[in-house]
Amino acid sequence: METKKITRILFVCLGNICRSPAAEAMLRMVVEREGLADRVVIDSAGTYGGHAGERSDVRMRRAAAARGIEMPHLARQVRETDFDKFDMLIAMDDNNYEALFRLAPDRAAQQKIYRFREFLRHNPDWSYIPDPYYEGHEGFELVLDLLEDGCATIVEQLR
Ligand code: 4NP
Repeated sequence: METKKITRILFVCLGNICRSPAAEAMLRMVVEREGLADRVVIDSAGTYGGHAGERSDVRMRRAAAARGIEMPHLARQVRETDFDKFDMLIAMDDNNYEALFRLAPDRAAQQKIYRFREFLRHNPDWSYIPDPYYEGHEGFELVLDLLEDGCATIVEQLR
């Protein structure tokens, strides 16, 4: 009998109320649509714990809902044990990447860290997912556009 490999993916941003919970919800929507939901475990966390326990930013939730994506996630801070629980920790920007690198307990853990930009195919001008927290509506739309691009690549790699 064929055993299906399960890939455990943790998206990481700063506050875990905008970018990474949107990435989590976006990837979940795509894997469900593609019939691959049983092949992944998806979660998100923030390098900063100040919003822990909170729902995602209402502006991010509204922008996602307009694309048919629900975001029920409650924020939490990333922790060292996440390197045991996940195969890929995908950072939204270089600051998140460096914070994860400092948290990683060893070399094997460091090798699990990726930048979201590695999965962008159609947005070569973006080397990170810009923080929308202090931005207007367009900032949230841009985040979702970039997440759509990268999540499509991630799903391709799961096949
Ligand atoms: P996120 O956005 O990292 O995409 O969740 C932010 C959320 C909160 C803050 C910064 C960015 N903050 O400074 O509280």
